[in-house]
Amino acid sequence: MAKLKSRFVCQECGSQSVKWQGRCPDCGGWNTFVEEVDSPKLTSTRMPSAAPSLLSSIDSKEEIRFSSGMEEFDRVLGGGLVSGSLVLIGGAPGIGKSTLLLQAASAVSRHKGTILYVSGEESLQQTKLRAGRLGLDGEKLYLLSEVNLQNIIQQIEILSPSMLVVDSIQTTYCDDLSTAPGSVSQIRECTSRLQRIAKKDNITTLIVGHVTKDGSIAGPRVLEHIVDTVLYFEGEGYQNFRLLRAVKNRFGSTNEVGIFEMGGSGLKEIKNPSEFFLAQRLKKSAGSVIVPVIEGSRPLLVELQALVSKTGFGIPARKSNGFDPNRLALMLAVVEKRAGIFLSNSDVFVNVVSGIKIEETASDLGLALAVVSSSKEAPLDPNTVIIGEVGLAGEVRAVPNLDIRIQEAEKLGFKKIIVPSYNLTKQINRTNKVELIGIETIREAIIASGITRKEV
Ligand code: TYD
Ligand code: MG
Repeated sequence: MAKLKSRFVCQECGSQSVKWQGRCPDCGGWNTFVEEVDSPKLTSTRMPSAAPSLLSSIDSKEEIRFSSGMEEFDRVLGGGLVSGSLVLIGGAPGIGKSTLLLQAASAVSRHKGTILYVSGEESLQQTKLRAGRLGLDGEKLYLLSEVNLQNIIQQIEILSPSMLVVDSIQTTYCDDLSTAPGSVSQIRECTSRLQRIAKKDNITTLIVGHVTKDGSIAGPRVLEHIVDTVLYFEGEGYQNFRLLRAVKNRFGSTNEVGIFEMGGSGLKEIKNPSEFFLAQRLKKSAGSVIVPVIEGSRPLLVELQALVSKTGFGIPARKSNGFDPNRLALMLAVVEKRAGIFLSNSDVFVNVVSGIKIEETASDLGLALAVVSSSKEAPLDPNTVIIGEVGLAGEVRAVPNLDIRIQEAEKLGFKKIIVPSYNLTKQINRTNKVELIGIETIREAIIASGITRKEV
């Protein structure tokens, strides 16, 4: 194939150059030059020019969805994979992206026919070994170890699969670009070509993207504009549970999370996450509080732990894992001032068990009580769940979605829930199985939770 005309363009100021330069002579930006190539003329795929249509006159067609074989995966996608859509799955190396997609590909091949799984990172034998370990079959699952996009496209034309997996976009390259695989221009060009094929031939395409050190998918943000859905697969250090989140979704909400556990035989869905997260809890331990957090539209009960200990020397340490440090500082000030618990010469460590990150303020009261409980060395009643946002005056404010938080606590056998009084003035579904204790201030919450036995 004849080489296409290419040039390098600065992404910051638009200045052009015939060769790559480390620093832009015009704007002074470093590493801003990206290769741009005149795209080949796509005469065969060009759409006829269309006249604008009135919105009301357009026939709406329901998008066609099919299951990925995993409920948790479907949930994040907004109810299954959409035919002809392009999905990007990002995640750190080793987190389980290939495992997830191989499992999904095998499940989909059972009811959707031919699937093509292209791996640019592993040999066919390695993928086969993995499939064996996962106990997957997939009669119509084709594997291809290939990095050249033109060759991949050729195979797509031969097989015409209903679903395509490209693992990963960073190893795939177009040979009409002179830059190395993994460079910005390669990633962008490969993705947009895959997008054209996905739309033209109605092939659901899943692309794996690696993430950079700062956590974003390596390559330009423009990649996120090209695809329909961007999912991130995350996990915490050595924990074996994984979260799948949507950060962009043209076909559904971006609020949902899917929860999986990585085990000896691949990824297993966790259908009852609260039970999973609370499995190793030490009941009757000071500084431990159960809070319901909402992930997507789902409540999860998680354990929040605080450890308050005397500062050895110097400035007291405040460290948190899974809880916003600014919010922690604020809560400690409120506890000190409004509940009269002196913390200025204590180190405070906070940990959200299982590596969940708490982002909503409805867990404020839980954190405050965990700190009070640890500083007094008095455990809370193990059957209690704490809900509430705390304001600077020590007042406890109402939280959204109280109903589903209560239901989840009830489902797991908790007996007592401390909730903001204001929430109780509104209509909520009460049952006799749990006792709801309405409180207005943090002081009232401390008394209601039973942390009063031992003074500091
Ligand atoms: P992988 O899917 O290769 O990750 P990625 O494609 O995101 O780089 O998963 C690799 C890790 O998962 C590896 O460290 C081993 C672990 N793993 C299991 O624990 N159990 C399994 O059944 C499989 C297949 C992998
Ligand atoms: Mg992989």
